[in-house]
Amino acid sequence: MVHINPVTTLDVTDGIAVIKVNNPPVNALGHAVREGLFEALTQAVADADVKAIVLGCDGRTFFAGADITEFGRPLQPPGLQEVIAAFEASPKPIVAAIFGTALGGGLELALGCHFRVASADARVGLPEVKLGILPGAGGTQRLPRLVGPEKAVAMIVAGAPVTAKAALADGVIDEIVADLIPGAIAFAQNVLAEGKTLVKVRDRDEKLAAARENPAGFEAAAKAALKKLAGVEAPAACAQSVRNSFTLPFEEGLKAERDLFLKLVTGDQSLAQRHIFFSEREAAKVPDMPAGVKSAALKKAVVIGGGTMGGGIAMCFANAGVPVTIVETTDEFLQKGLDRIKSTYAVSVERGALKQDAMDKRLALIAGTTDWNVIADTDIVIEAVFEEFALKKEIFGKLDKIAKPGTLLASNTSTLDVDAIAAATSRPEDVVGMHFFSPANVMKLLEIVRGEKSSFPAIATAVAAGKLLAKIPVIVGNCDGFVGNRMLARRTTECERLLLEGAAPQDVDAVVQKFGFPMGPYAMGDLAGLDVGWRIRKHRGITAPVSDALCEAGRFGQKTGKGYYIYENGARTPTPDPAVTKLAAEKAEALGVNRRNITEQEILERMTYPMINEAARILEERIAVRASDIDVVWAYGYGWPVWRGGPCFYADLIGAKAICEALEHYAEITGDAGLKPAKLLLDLAASGGKFADIGVAKKAAA
Ligand code: CAA
Repeated sequence: MVHINPVTTLDVTDGIAVIKVNNPPVNALGHAVREGLFEALTQAVADADVKAIVLGCDGRTFFAGADITEFGRPLQPPGLQEVIAAFEASPKPIVAAIFGTALGGGLELALGCHFRVASADARVGLPEVKLGILPGAGGTQRLPRLVGPEKAVAMIVAGAPVTAKAALADGVIDEIVADLIPGAIAFAQNVLAEGKTLVKVRDRDEKLAAARENPAGFEAAAKAALKKLAGVEAPAACAQSVRNSFTLPFEEGLKAERDLFLKLVTGDQSLAQRHIFFSEREAAKVPDMPAGVKSAALKKAVVIGGGTMGGGIAMCFANAGVPVTIVETTDEFLQKGLDRIKSTYAVSVERGALKQDAMDKRLALIAGTTDWNVIADTDIVIEAVFEEFALKKEIFGKLDKIAKPGTLLASNTSTLDVDAIAAATSRPEDVVGMHFFSPANVMKLLEIVRGEKSSFPAIATAVAAGKLLAKIPVIVGNCDGFVGNRMLARRTTECERLLLEGAAPQDVDAVVQKFGFPMGPYAMGDLAGLDVGWRIRKHRGITAPVSDALCEAGRFGQKTGKGYYIYENGARTPTPDPAVTKLAAEKAEALGVNRRNITEQEILERMTYPMINEAARILEERIAVRASDIDVVWAYGYGWPVWRGGPCFYADLIGAKAICEALEHYAEITGDAGLKPAKLLLDLAASGGKFADIGVAKKAAA
């Protein structure tokens, strides 16, 4: 075996050259890898003993793509396109041996090889769209030649990887092999033995010819793929580039792909998406955690409470293959909870998102009991009962008595003081908050609330649990509302004010949706139920004249057919209601609020700047340790568009100075001192600094 460079080896045995790369963690195609591949290929092609070549990787995966940290920096040759062109031009057959995840540039390199074999559990895909770019190394030109432009556009715009089985069925790979490298070598020997002619993917035209004849099929597929993606640049560029695959000659299509790539990669949307990619990985890291802290095993779980939240959390465990027991107070509540879980899974089966046998397997992992002794033998307990302190205190006292030492005791509280809950036990070090978002089985965000006494192993175990449950864990400090809801409260206050000042719910929702949120705040409120906020306001002695009046009139939102909007005959789409504007006008008059025309710009600022201001306070108090953590919370828990990078990223684009000036103005017109810029924001404005510079240093994404 020859070491071509520190990350690449070349081994020639019996006429087959095996080129291998080992560049942990994910064999990203950085400069050293590209250089090593180019050199290894050159040597293999020049070596008269070599008749065929196998391309593989060591470590946990085949190439997971270009090295994203190199984006935005001057590219060091050879470029990936150059490497791929060299592989494609090889006169000797090349077989890519795929395992793990062949993604982005990794799959594009494999498409430059003459053949592809994969292990059964491999997945392949072109996820670039999720980084705000398009496959820039020939993926949009070569994939359509294998699977047809209709399938390619769906796959590239969605960016979701497919299984080896699906890839085989679609012609992306040629064979699934049991033992990867020996299997790839055997495949190569077979190619030689059969004297197969080498057809480059770029030269295949059958599926393109079909699309040329029937472009309407492609256009329909593109339209379906792009649905609900207005305002986002990368998906449309992906579709255009796939369209080029059958309307332009290969080289021209490749050039157009490159131009689109370069345009996108330097734009704000891609910068934002790369920021979120790195930030979500960073958010679970605890800066002061000593090295070597281990998380506990998570073999068995208990969830206290079988309501919507508890049931959703139990489903997450079952989905991850972990046996979970729900503890309820009565058999009746328990049965209700278990039935709800069953019907939620059944809906997924009906929709075709889940197979019946998978549902059965998951249900078999969920047990229920009214006997608290089950807690004695579990690794993690997540309490998910009604949000009432006295009740939670009682439960944690009970958990303390029954659970074995070292069991993680977590509360799924969204508002209560985690330290006070921990104080109900004799082991506050084992207690954390694990704030799931509703529906818990769907939403990705998990705020892990670090209490004053939470131990490092407890935090590490909570993070491990979050990852096991396929969540995106973000560590936050203990305060009212933690990060997400604390910021949301600021927006909610502005929502009420805007109604009084003259905006209608539909005006505000339209601006927020245009910004990129899937729903506006009022439509969201109607969906969640306005009575929830009303109850909390009453409990805290807060009033919101318009919203309170709606609730007093029994308008709780979708469930009562009326809220901020009207929902006739069980409709789920909101219809504006002039009665709400009338009500707001009456309340404004009674309160002496001057009603006026409110511009879209003002609406947008008031829907975002007060939250940014609260984010600054959250950072001042170290409730979040990095500005990017706040961005992750909003992107995954509240629908902030990923391509806008989260509130702090967005604030950096606007600049702290402009935000401070606007906040001063809004503080003055509303008389709310809480809208005055936070000290940290003022400091950023004075120094020209950015949120991105606050907190723990992280990998450059730009
Ligand atoms: N470049 C640089 N670093 C990468 C990377 C990439 N393409 N992919 C992953 N990493 C890093 C992560 O940042 C992380 O670093 P830290 O440990 O320092 O936080 C580390 O590798 C491990 O990643 P994960 O924690 O995500 O590991 P995982 O096992 O959960 O997932 C994965 C592995 C499925 C490969 C996932 O990392 C992933 O989806 N990566 C991105 C894949 C991708 O988008 N590829 C396309 C790149 S763009 C491209 O290729 C453009 C082109 O056309 C030329």
